[in-house]
Amino acid sequence: MSQLSNRRTFAIISHPDAGKTTLTEKLLLQGGAIHLAGEVKARGQARRARSDWMKIEQQRGISVTSSVMTFERGGITFNLLDTPGHEDFSEDTYRTLTAVDSAVMVIDAAKGIEPQTRKLFEVCRMRSVPIITFINKVDREGRECFSLLDEVADALALDVSPMSWPVGMGGQFQGILDLATGHVSRPEGDSREFLGKIDIDPELPVEVAEEVELASVGYPAFDIEAYRHGDLTPVYFGSALKNFGVAELIDAIAKYAPPPRPQPSEAGEIAPERDEVTGFVFKVQANMDPQHRDRIAFMRMVSGTFKRGMKLTPSGLGKPIAVHSPILFFAQDREIADTAQAGDIIGIPNHGTLRVGDTLSERNEVRFTGLPNFAPEILRRVQLKDPTKTKQLRKALDDLSEEGVIQVFYPEIGAQWIVGVVGQLQLEVLVSRLEAEYKVEAVLEPAPFDTARWLKGAPDALKTFADFNKTNLARDRDGDPVFLARSAWDVSYQQERHPELAFGAVKER
Ligand code: G4P
Repeated sequence: MSQLSNRRTFAIISHPDAGKTTLTEKLLLQGGAIHLAGEVKARGQARRARSDWMKIEQQRGISVTSSVMTFERGGITFNLLDTPGHEDFSEDTYRTLTAVDSAVMVIDAAKGIEPQTRKLFEVCRMRSVPIITFINKVDREGRECFSLLDEVADALALDVSPMSWPVGMGGQFQGILDLATGHVSRPEGDSREFLGKIDIDPELPVEVAEEVELASVGYPAFDIEAYRHGDLTPVYFGSALKNFGVAELIDAIAKYAPPPRPQPSEAGEIAPERDEVTGFVFKVQANMDPQHRDRIAFMRMVSGTFKRGMKLTPSGLGKPIAVHSPILFFAQDREIADTAQAGDIIGIPNHGTLRVGDTLSERNEVRFTGLPNFAPEILRRVQLKDPTKTKQLRKALDDLSEEGVIQVFYPEIGAQWIVGVVGQLQLEVLVSRLEAEYKVEAVLEPAPFDTARWLKGAPDALKTFADFNKTNLARDRDGDPVFLARSAWDVSYQQERHPELAFGAVKER
């Protein structure tokens, strides 16, 4: 097998509580990456305790940070990128999904498609990310299989192709039938877990045999091309908790999920086979360890073979940096990477030189596209409790906007800076991180603006517009001009009066 085809970089998308954490644990266990179930959560908790803002995550029982987990099985390296499950973090999640080649969608068998499943699915569809479906918790009473399959098909406008079938659910649960082999994996012992018992000549209850018969004519057969185009999803039934369907899921990712895909750049697609090392930063996480002000930029490798100590040039900077201590994310620990290849994620420690959306490359000729900033839906003025802390505040806002936690706007007139977010929870994270990490106490006040638009146009036209609209003008972190609007109506009014200017709701870096 070629080196390139043995990488699978994927994410799990789901609504909170569907079983993503449990499934992640079981995937890592099967991959031999961790030794004890529960370790993912335990480690997560140890990490969470480290700083105040992460307490929000704990209190609400949601996952705010995303991380990278690497495991191996059968000669394949799997890179699992965790996506935050809360709807307020759509920006962060969106960016993480730009860095994967496929996704696993976890659905609770009792609940079917839930709002967050649908949203995340839409993001995957926008980027043609192929999806494998895992219908979880069949060890409990759930909805009828046909109704679940039809719901996935209707709600998401996808063809569904069942690959396995539960033999009963809840109290009646007797195992999972593999539709290709006809084998049934059986529960054992008091815990009714799957411990390896496979029945190769099972006698199926009559109603199950009928269902399977119906399913085989009612749904299309699996077709790898349709799956990879994002037109069809293979569906596996299972129980993450009891370990049913987990091995089958890993096998499916190994067998069907695409290896690293070409990525869009300003000069067309960059293929993974290109020998130059290229990649892009999809996430920056600061202060993972409050003792050291470290910032880790997560880079998705697009092409080439990275070797430790290599010099890469960030698109934002123009000056090459030597990457001496890159980090690979094995589940037990962070490991120093010696080499990495297309599809891999490496963590690059830095002091704020690397930003979300940056391209890194050996020759500085490539610029990846499609990592957007979205127009914020909530704008707030930042008011300091102690006015002597202006410098610290500026540093904190710059840092946090580089990380993608918030967007910051510096108005042309007035000293009060404005932060913009897509969801309310981001504001809470901001306030508690300001305090915990920068010792800055701040209050967020309503701003007289509703939304922001990035301005583009000829320098003369921009200047004329700016002269007449000073109170509505700001600069973003990059110094690019931004129109702060009182309402959506305000945006369309100005756009109509100034056809020579573009008012962008998205800024692509
Ligand atoms: P999430 O990351 O998607 O939010 O879900 P998580 O894995 O934390 O699972 C949510 C709840 O569902 C947990 O129960 C978990 O044990 C349970 N669960 C996950 N997979 C299965 C399954 O296959 N079958 C059954 N019966 N339950 C499953 P909890 O009581 O909320 O949490 P915990 O205290 O048990 O950890």
